[in-house]
Amino acid sequence: MKNAGAVLSLAVAAAAYPSMGPYERVSRIFDRSVDLYADWPSYDQLPLNSSYPTKAAWGVWGADDQLGALNHITNDTILAASQTIQDGLAFPLNLRLDVPDPPSNAARKPLSHLYMPQDGYTDDVLVMNTQISTQFDGLRHYPYSTNNSVYTYQWYNDLIADYEDVIGPKPTEALGLQVSAEKGIAVRAVLFDFAGWMDATNQTFDPFTDFQINPGQLDEVADWQNMPEDWSQPGDMLIIRTGWVRQYNTLNITERALLRVQNWPYIGLEASDRTLRWLWEKKLSLIGADNPAVESSSFIAEIDGAMRNLHQVFIGGWGMSIVEFLYLEELVPAMHSRNRWNFFLTIQNLNVVSGIASPPNALAIL
Ligand SMILES: *[C@@H]1O[C@H](CO)[C@@H](O)[C@H](O)[C@H]1NC(C)=O
Ligand SMILES: *[C@@H]1O[C@H](CO)[C@@H](O)[C@H](O)[C@H]1NC(C)=O
Ligand SMILES: *[C@@H]1O[C@H](CO)[C@@H](O)[C@H](O)[C@H]1NC(C)=O
Ligand SMILES: *[C@@H]1O[C@H](CO)[C@@H](O)[C@H](O)[C@H]1NC(C)=O
Ligand SMILES: *[C@@H]1O[C@H](CO)[C@@H](O)[C@H](O)[C@H]1NC(C)=O
Repeated sequence: MKNAGAVLSLAVAAAAYPSMGPYERVSRIFDRSVDLYADWPSYDQLPLNSSYPTKAAWGVWGADDQLGALNHITNDTILAASQTIQDGLAFPLNLRLDVPDPPSNAARKPLSHLYMPQDGYTDDVLVMNTQISTQFDGLRHYPYSTNNSVYTYQWYNDLIADYEDVIGPKPTEALGLQVSAEKGIAVRAVLFDFAGWMDATNQTFDPFTDFQINPGQLDEVADWQNMPEDWSQPGDMLIIRTGWVRQYNTLNITERALLRVQNWPYIGLEASDRTLRWLWEKKLSLIGADNPAVESSSFIAEIDGAMRNLHQVFIGGWGMSIVEFLYLEELVPAMHSRNRWNFFLTIQNLNVVSGIASPPNALAIL
């Protein structure tokens, strides 16, 4: 979201400024052998210590935890998720790495793909900004901050002391992409076809505006999809089809270029306490959508008395990664024709030490 040059020059000075932490470490003790959620805090109980930022779940999984919401994925949830495989259909949910074209933000250069002829074989070399296509935002991507100031950055569980530890010459490993790459992500995903519901109920909307989807609407989508009251289970990944990719696919090359000039307003989740409350109670491992940021483009709102966005609370607060620009257009008709809304999903991030984001290599299996 910000200008890369400015960030780099600020970073040189960052080490000289005190960071917001360190915080006193507070940790809930779980007896996992009895009940993973025996001492699970309610949304109103967040954060566990009033010195922590807005609605952070720091300490909920232990003071030194790096997995965050991926802790909801257990052997049992994976086994249960596998029971949703019924038809043997596989749907990759990844856009091509050069889509959208041009990328959403001028500071994000398009994929560079070089071919290297060798003696008797061929190599190729990819250079890419991990934010340009379908992407998994790791826990280094989006800390809390006050008006984007680098000096106020606060990462999940306060495990990174300084911005230099992220972008400096010797980054530390805490919260790096290797953590999620080595965890093994296999989940039951639950799909909300918001765009399909809007169409079916004759509500007009434009995915290229700051249209905000609220939890009341998601409850209506669940009803429309005939989902049971208890549709969510701990460890699920929630996926929302906003209709953004569907509409993007109708644009010609000129219209795609114009989208960037127009600064890319986009549909997405409403940033609000009610959205966060609704999600927290579901104990999700991940959240994803077919739009640029899961949340809508306004990107800032008053949450529990502070100006925040969902990225900050999800990633910096709950340790919950976001998957953006998912490609759902072939999966969704298959779900409709079967009248079912959950499926087995695997994600395998690139195993990049200290990495920030990755193509998710997401695969749905029905
Ligand atoms: C919360 O942090 C403060 C310091 O900011 C500390 O005095 C207090 O004991 C902490 N509370 C708990 C429950 O640990
Ligand atoms: C999951 O299974 C692995 C391999 O059997 C085992 O080492 C691990 O302890 C199990 N984890 C849980 C949370 O049961
Ligand atoms: C951001 O915060 C700093 C320090 O609190 C303040 O000086 C500055 O005016 C703020 N910038 C904006 C755009 O609000
Ligand atoms: C939507 O509009 C169509 C065509 O005008 C109509 O047949 C249908 O009943 C409407 N559906 C709803 C839910 O209003
Ligand atoms: C793209 O579509 C617009 C209409 O929205 C049209 O005016 C324009 O000529 C088209 N451009 C190309 C290259 O097809």
